[in-house]
Amino acid sequence: TDRYAVIGNPIAHSQSPFIHAEFAKATGEDIAYERLFAELGKFKVVVDEFVAAGAKGLNITLPFKGDAFRYADELTERARAAEAVNTLTFKDGKAYGDNTDGVGLVRDIAENLDFPIKGQRVLILGAGGAVRGVLVPLLEQKPSALTIANRTLIKAEALAHQFGQFGPIEAVGYEALAGRTFDIIINATSSSLSNDLPPIPRGVFTPRTLAYDMVYSKGLTPFLARAQSENAGMLADGLGMLVEQAAESFRIWRGVQPETRAVTNLLRDLLA
Ligand code: ATR
Repeated sequence: TDRYAVIGNPIAHSQSPFIHAEFAKATGEDIAYERLFAELGKFKVVVDEFVAAGAKGLNITLPFKGDAFRYADELTERARAAEAVNTLTFKDGKAYGDNTDGVGLVRDIAENLDFPIKGQRVLILGAGGAVRGVLVPLLEQKPSALTIANRTLIKAEALAHQFGQFGPIEAVGYEALAGRTFDIIINATSSSLSNDLPPIPRGVFTPRTLAYDMVYSKGLTPFLARAQSENAGMLADGLGMLVEQAAESFRIWRGVQPETRAVTNLLRDLLA
C-alpha cells in the first residue's frame, strides 16, 4: 500500500481523504491517504518525517502551499508561475512539485459545466494566492481577455505584469467594472469565507454569464446570491474544482485518470 496525505493547518475538515479513497476504490489502486497536521513553521519537519516513512506523495492546503513550493526540488511551469505547490511527488530521493488548482478550475468550468473558456471575456475577482494559482491554466484556454479586479489595485497590476507573457490580462479596481459585462466571473477572493461580498458594481452579470465561486458551501455564497439576484445564467461553487484538482493529483501519482462526476455528487450529498 502506497502512502499519501494532505497537509494543512487546520486539516480536520479536509475532504481530500474521502475523495482519494473514492478514486482508489473506483480505479482499484491500492493506496492509503491520511490527514497530516503541522504547526506553523513545522512544515519541513513534518514532511521530512512523512517522506522518511516511505510516503509517495502529498497534497498541500492552506497555509502551506508556499512552503511546499520552497520544499520542492523540481517544479512544473504552472507551479513555478503560481509560486505555490499543492501536489508533491516523492521519487528517487527527490520531491517534485506541481499545482493542480488551475487545471481543476478549468476542467470544472469547461467540462463539467460545459462552459468553454476559449474566446470568452473572463473576470477574476481577487489578487491573492488563489488567483496566482490558476492564471496560467486559465490563460492557456485562450479567453479573449482576462480582467483581474482587486480592492488593492497594485496587487492586481503586479499579477497582470507577471502573467502578461501567458496571455492578455488587464488589472482594474472594482469601480472600473461599472458599465461592463463579462461571460465568466470567478470569485477568487476570500470574501465568502467571512460571509462577505466583493464590491462589484451592478450590471456586470448577464443572462449568459457563468458566476463561479471558488469557495464551496451548502447554500449560496453572498457572491452567488448576488449573481442570482442579477439573473446570471449559471451559478457554480468550487466543489467541482476541489474534486478535479484532486483527480489531477491522483493522475500524477498513479497514472490513471479517475472519474469525478459521481464523487462530486456524493460529496455534495454528504455536505448537504
Ligand atoms: P488567497 O490565498 O485566498 O487568495 P490572500 O492571498 O490573503 O488569500 O488574498 C485574499 C484576496 O481576497 C485578496 O485579493 C483580497 O483583496 P485585497 O488584496 O484588496 O485585500 C480579497 N478579499 C478578501 N476579502 C475581501 C472582501 N470582503 N471584498 C473584496 N475582496 C476581498
